[in-house]
Amino acid sequence: QVYTDYFFDEPVFDLHDGGYIPLEKAEVPEKPLHIPAALKPDKVDGNDVYYTITAHESETQILPGAKTKTWGYNESILGTTVVLKKGVHYHVHLVNELPEVTTFHWHGLNVTGPIVDGGPHAPVYPGGTRDIDFTLDQPAQTDWIHPHPCPNTARQVWNGLAAAVVVTDDEEAKLPFPRNYGVDDIPIILQDRNYHENQLDYKADYDMDGALGKYALVNGTINGVFNVTTQRVRLRILNGANRREWRLHLDDGHEFTQIASDGGTLPEPVRMTKLMLTCAERAEVILDFGDKKPGDVVTLMTDNIPIMKFKIGDFKREDIELPEHLTTIAAPKVTPGLPVTRTVMSGMDDKVRLDGKLFDMQRIDRKQKIGDTVLWDVVNTNDMDSGMIHPFHMHGCQFLVLSRNGKAPYPNEHGWKDTVGVNAGETVRIAVQFTKFGVYMYHCHILEHEDTGMMAQIEAYDPNEKHEYHLISMDEM
Ligand code: C2O
Ligand code: CU
Ligand code: CU
Repeated sequence: QVYTDYFFDEPVFDLHDGGYIPLEKAEVPEKPLHIPAALKPDKVDGNDVYYTITAHESETQILPGAKTKTWGYNESILGTTVVLKKGVHYHVHLVNELPEVTTFHWHGLNVTGPIVDGGPHAPVYPGGTRDIDFTLDQPAQTDWIHPHPCPNTARQVWNGLAAAVVVTDDEEAKLPFPRNYGVDDIPIILQDRNYHENQLDYKADYDMDGALGKYALVNGTINGVFNVTTQRVRLRILNGANRREWRLHLDDGHEFTQIASDGGTLPEPVRMTKLMLTCAERAEVILDFGDKKPGDVVTLMTDNIPIMKFKIGDFKREDIELPEHLTTIAAPKVTPGLPVTRTVMSGMDDKVRLDGKLFDMQRIDRKQKIGDTVLWDVVNTNDMDSGMIHPFHMHGCQFLVLSRNGKAPYPNEHGWKDTVGVNAGETVRIAVQFTKFGVYMYHCHILEHEDTGMMAQIEAYDPNEKHEYHLISMDEM
């Protein structure tokens, strides 16, 4: 079966929003698609690997003419890709060379909160550093690092901070997926920006429902071209936009296969011609260009706008059928006797709330015991005619989507996720389990909604082990 629709409810696509800024085809010359370098360890000592990640100000040639002032992790824009392997103990030296406080949030990583997780309680002040360490304890997947300082996440991401994280493990390594980074396995970080005399101006483009830009960028490149040298290419697609949804398809209607969602490999490959990602969601897909010949060009589109091209070169014929079954995801055993946790995303613009409240750094909104599997009903009370999709994200865990308004989840939602787009008027039931202690955020991942306060925090606790948390206040930021 090949799916040919976007699954989400069309009436609440972002393009129906009054403040929607449509993408325009950028009239700038094509350029090779930027592929962020893989971050090199400072040191490897047995099972201990040491990395340094520096957030800094820089500049990037994005448009012809003056370079654009951009922020990045190690690189001038976005950041070096961090490759992590299950079971390895990482020591990360975080450095802030920005003129303001930031944090380094590992979106999708199962690490303790709030410090290693890097949410708003883990500031790194300008000129300062922080050292964290963790043992990678989750399956192969695509995650990302982005800043999370309250309430400046949106602006800092807009300025350029976002890096791909590639998690590998031995199980995924056995699957017939492309995995030669930069050659047949590439990140596709989708963002949109505006330029004012070639510069970013977050204030000018601010919108309470999320900043939108009229140009699409892939990995920081406008009109990028990727030279295809293998029959199959694996894309690790990340919606790294503040607000924009991406409705992806290829210009010739070419089919592709989704093999992974946020939290890793899907139980079964999902063949499709259209893929929609809401903010912060990831999808890994394999494109098979077996029906193409050298010189052919395939264009990746969102709605009717071309965003990058694949130029087909010479490749060695390699017809590979994906197995019908990729991995087994054990259905979670819901802990008996616990009520369903209900959490409500409501409003738009300055009215956005989570459970009727605005975020408070000092308030723990909920608690959940480590190891318990709890049903959560995530509700979006917007109405269908004039509402929007709110992408719901949780730190510190990967969850399973069980149903949407009582019906089956979308065909590509049968794997682990940490972000789920919730349609207007919809209740999405998920199964949530924490395995590590900590205080974690959960929030709408439209970054301006998050900054406004559509965010709350949960403590994952172990009754036999007490942890004290220093919840910082706004004036410590
Ligand atoms: Cu992408 Cu609170 O995070
Ligand atoms: Cu996160
Ligand atoms: Cu929202």
